[in-house]
Amino acid sequence: MSVESLIFEKGAPGRRAASLAAMDVPTEALEDLIPANLLRAVPAPLPEVSEIEVVRHYTHLSQRNFSVDTGFYPLGSCTMKYNPKLNEDMAVLPGFAHIHPLQPVETAQGAIQLIYELEQYLAEIAGMARVTLQPSAGAHGELTGLMLIKAYHQSQGEGHRNLVLIPDNAHGTNPASATLADYRSVEVKSDTRTGGIDMEHLKALLGANGASVAAIMMTNPNTLGLFDVNIAEIARMVHEVGGQLYYDGANANAVLGITRPGDMGFDVVHFNLHKTCSTPHGGGGPGAGPIGVKEHLVPFLPGPLPAKGEQGYSWQDPGPQSIGKVRANMGNFGVLVRAYTYIRTHGPDGLRHVSESAILNANYLKHEISPDYEIAYPLICQHEFVATAERYKDEHGVTALDIAKRLLDFGMYAPTVYFPLIVHEALMIEPTETETRETLDYFVSVMHQIAEEARTNPEIVRSAPHTTVVGRLDQALAARKPNLRWQSGQERTH
Ligand SMILES: Cc1ncc(COP(=O)(O)O)c(C=O)c1O
Repeated sequence: MSVESLIFEKGAPGRRAASLAAMDVPTEALEDLIPANLLRAVPAPLPEVSEIEVVRHYTHLSQRNFSVDTGFYPLGSCTMKYNPKLNEDMAVLPGFAHIHPLQPVETAQGAIQLIYELEQYLAEIAGMARVTLQPSAGAHGELTGLMLIKAYHQSQGEGHRNLVLIPDNAHGTNPASATLADYRSVEVKSDTRTGGIDMEHLKALLGANGASVAAIMMTNPNTLGLFDVNIAEIARMVHEVGGQLYYDGANANAVLGITRPGDMGFDVVHFNLHKTCSTPHGGGGPGAGPIGVKEHLVPFLPGPLPAKGEQGYSWQDPGPQSIGKVRANMGNFGVLVRAYTYIRTHGPDGLRHVSESAILNANYLKHEISPDYEIAYPLICQHEFVATAERYKDEHGVTALDIAKRLLDFGMYAPTVYFPLIVHEALMIEPTETETRETLDYFVSVMHQIAEEARTNPEIVRSAPHTTVVGRLDQALAARKPNLRWQSGQERTH
């Protein structure tokens, strides 16, 4: 019998993990309630297992996965930082976890207060007038923000504006959201020296199409981890032709308490609370992508919005110009509790320290790995940076993907690879602020080792990973036709 069978082949008739009290309703009553054709003729073929078997099964499964609780996760742009367990404790407080979104407001005062105060904190952090917490993810926030911009232009008799300018290093959700909002994306080139927007190209685009530009969507710092120092001038130019500025705030953990999108000239901003404010994400889990807006966009916000009055907290209907609800109820409330806890436990100075540490860690890694990996834009970076494995591909046939896979053998997750698209063989590295110096140094030593292997024994890198439960998969096939069922005799998937 193999270990695999021990993990998956379990149970024996009559084994139980829990003992239930005897039923005190007559079985015939059930038959009256459930139509006969829906009743089971024979019991479901479920494994009959003891408690320890269940516990070991799920614990083993969890160990077969990678998580930020088990190892370093430098996945650039995705900000996989440690989530303090205190946030979890708060989210499961019965007063929060057992609340119903439709219960009378008098009985939900604490929850509405939390939403009200979180909005205020986020507005202050971003330099915005008001915030809605409804959107469930960054991409959902983007769509909501563009809908607000569209409603605003329509209210100004400018509904014909149909273009959204998006830099060539933007996250893929930006053009996707623009398309969903029925806009056409126009690519703005990056400056090859600074990594910021190519000002001459922007000028030309605005000159030719200014009257049709609804907005520019920017991430600052961008996905190269570089802060665009021309932002004030960009804001002036876009506003001058009547466009709006949308801030993709997925990289906000580089600017907390240091600068604010509102002060840079942006009109709309989304937060990725599941990144910046350390709530768990990934694997399709719940997120939150609140939207902050400047005063002129407030009338268009989704509602209801929380309000504070003499009678306590309540929900206020939005005005007639609102774009309507973008989600059932009030958003992913558990994520909001975690974000609120994160902000309150850090306070203003703590949040600034978060960003300073994220920036320091990224610059340290960039410096330390640069003898072996060329840095795409060798400038002071913010919370992340992009290296390239082009040299290893050309000289030894070892790609960015190979290097990423080899890292898994050392108990670390891989950086983001092949993104942003403008860097060949990109390795986009984001250490985050929550890692220790020892972890960063371990990562550096492994990166040097992999570089050495690529030069002297490339096959070991090309065939990695060697130690993980699942080997190298056909990623496109695995995503389209996932095979998630274990079958007897299947020891390791390649
Ligand atoms: C720069 C940037 N923008 C937008 C998003 C989209 O956020 P979400 O995955 O929450 O939809 C991401 C996600 O990684 C991102 O990195």
